[in-house]
Amino acid sequence: MIKTNADLNITPCEYFHHEKAPEPCGIIIFGASGDLTHRKLIPGLYDLYHDKLISEDFFIVGSARTRWNDKIFRQRVSEILKEKEKSDSALQKKFIKHIYYRSAEYSDPESLRSLAALMKELNIKHKAKENIIFYFATPSSVYCELIQKLAQIGMISKMKNAKPWIHAVFEKPFGCDLESARKLNKVILNALDETQVYRIDHYLGKETVQNILIFRFANNIFETLWNRHYIDHVQITASEILGIEHRAGYYDKTGVLRDMFQNHMLQLLALIAMERPTKFESEEYRNQKLKVVEAIRAIPKGKLHDFIALGQYGSGKIAGRKVPAYVKEKGVPPHSKTETFAALKILIDNPRWRGVPFYLRSGKRLNHPMTEIAIHFKRVEHSIFPHLKSDQFGPNVLSFRIHPDEGIFLSFEAKYPGPKLHTASLNLGFKYKDAFKTTLMSAYERLLLDCTRGDQMLFVREDMVEASWKFITAILKERKKLLPRVFPNYQSGSWGPQNANKIINQDGRRWQDF
Ligand code: BG6
Repeated sequence: MIKTNADLNITPCEYFHHEKAPEPCGIIIFGASGDLTHRKLIPGLYDLYHDKLISEDFFIVGSARTRWNDKIFRQRVSEILKEKEKSDSALQKKFIKHIYYRSAEYSDPESLRSLAALMKELNIKHKAKENIIFYFATPSSVYCELIQKLAQIGMISKMKNAKPWIHAVFEKPFGCDLESARKLNKVILNALDETQVYRIDHYLGKETVQNILIFRFANNIFETLWNRHYIDHVQITASEILGIEHRAGYYDKTGVLRDMFQNHMLQLLALIAMERPTKFESEEYRNQKLKVVEAIRAIPKGKLHDFIALGQYGSGKIAGRKVPAYVKEKGVPPHSKTETFAALKILIDNPRWRGVPFYLRSGKRLNHPMTEIAIHFKRVEHSIFPHLKSDQFGPNVLSFRIHPDEGIFLSFEAKYPGPKLHTASLNLGFKYKDAFKTTLMSAYERLLLDCTRGDQMLFVREDMVEASWKFITAILKERKKLLPRVFPNYQSGSWGPQNANKIINQDGRRWQDF
């Protein structure tokens, strides 16, 4: 019988008595007229309020160049909230009273000073104890100048373990290569201490991703098998049926290697491959993840095509609906060579993983939405059963289903009932929605909560962001050699290009079917 918070009769707030409680604070969102604020930040903040996970003493100021005022912004917020599941109109009205808007020209110190004055006033009104979260939901090209200006007028300053506190949250993409990420880190860390910096990778806020650590280190049976002696290979898939939506401007400059691999995919890999942290503490946890990324073998220049496959979607059908090719999407240049799919084979040079390939693939407009990590164990070496060869037994595969149908499954062989000796592959597993009678917290809700509590564990540290960029930048430098002669090279609704099969088939393995 699984015990839930409800069975144990603990309310979420009591639960936080064991951890750091959320503190009063003001939150300022730069880029507040944009899509992220609409889709993720406002819903995430409202969920925190709904779940009583944010102190009643808080306020939110949206800021952008767009000439809105409190009334217009509140109107928009109220429209966003209408779409929410956790809808409660009285509570929404209360929430909206904590919300303000101030348009600002980020290059103009006067405009920022007036923002600072507003923050001071609201801080008193809402008893926010002068704690502030600066949320940079603007493109990273805007961060640098804005950070410098904020530092110049004294709105932000370097401090460590101080009260009141200042935390700064930065959205991905954090730069576009190693050089730009280093530059960004330098500017940010001139103005702030690393303990004040929260670099977002929303995958780390997903409940299913956090569970990887619990699964590995709060159970004893798998960790002993978690190495090259028992694991044959690992597959990480993040496939989407969506195209680039209305993000052509961003996506065409970015491509899937920067958009998904530098961050989400490498984070998943790090969580699966990391050593056991000596304690459940932010720095130690991040140290162990970093060591994995640092141990990734550079892709051998002479063998690029054995390790990397790139693709771009053509037209096709998704769920019976015709969809256009990438280059026909609104805003995409007709001869664009941007990759919307990539598959990578990664080797980790450390004693635990020597010789175990990690195959990663991610792409847009694929057949099925699916984010999953599959650990393929080695097959039985010798069969004692007459007429059944060892390669007839399916391998044991442990799957972490990140999304959708969140859960964990383990496939194994069983005797098929009857007089003949037959086997069948079965699954042991659980789905979150059946096992826990509670809805999963959204990634943004969780990450925003951690910002208010000053917990950096689920955020990306300076050295990790640079180590990931180092690996990806080396690939980006070889990108031209990797481009297939013909783009598009896969149909929308398929499982990606043929060249992606090569990198796994050549090792005698195949991509997982879904
Ligand atoms: C974002 C990428 O970081 O992650 C998007 O910019 C991608 O292109 C998204 O669609 C995927 O996130 P999720 O949570 O839907 O798997």
